[in-house]
Amino acid sequence: MTKNKSLPGTELILYHKPHNATKMATHNLGRTVFGDPKNSGHLMTIEEANLLLNDWVSNDRLRLHMKQVAAIMKAWAIEKENADPATALKWELAGLLHDADWEKYPEQHCSIIIEELEKRNIDPEVIHCIASHGPHYFGVEPVTRMDKMIYAIDELSGFIHAVALIRPTRYEDLEIKSVLKRLKTPSFAAQVSREDITDALSRAGLSLEDLVPFIIDHQKAV
Ligand SMILES: [Fe+2]
Ligand SMILES: [Fe+2]
Repeated sequence: MTKNKSLPGTELILYHKPHNATKMATHNLGRTVFGDPKNSGHLMTIEEANLLLNDWVSNDRLRLHMKQVAAIMKAWAIEKENADPATALKWELAGLLHDADWEKYPEQHCSIIIEELEKRNIDPEVIHCIASHGPHYFGVEPVTRMDKMIYAIDELSGFIHAVALIRPTRYEDLEIKSVLKRLKTPSFAAQVSREDITDALSRAGLSLEDLVPFIIDHQKAV
């Protein structure tokens, strides 16, 4: 686990090594094609994905992080991309499982969950989305809208949760300006790469003002 040089309180979100390649060795997946196209449309249920999570992840904070990313991904797909239920399920599954192997296999993070989903014949788009949640770390470029959004949502969601945790009232009345102020404070949640957030937003064609309030609204109840 990365040493915490952040302000007091932010160690609460230290469930995860950064994906920022400048802060640690990269774990290049060595490929950019995942799954089998003939499995297109083959998904698992959220119940099945939760069983996998319960089996693989004992850290409550890490499980919460994945559930928050899943809730935001699903809501974004439905509200902003007009996704039908099957497409929204893809977004939700990618969010729910993207860090599933982190606790058991930190050095092989992403490889193990990808292999598991390939074994289960899951839709390649879901697997590619999981593989693209840290392009500078895994060496997989986000291609689809779903890929670009998981990259943007992942680190920003964790960062916003850290901002909420140091407030006595948590998410209540949490405003975008508090998040922007903390983003400009390098010592706050220092393990969250500001460069990755900027890069991810630019690839998604979004601003902090577009995404931060949406994340606050959709992860506070998770
Ligand atoms: Fe991750
Ligand atoms: Fe994550």
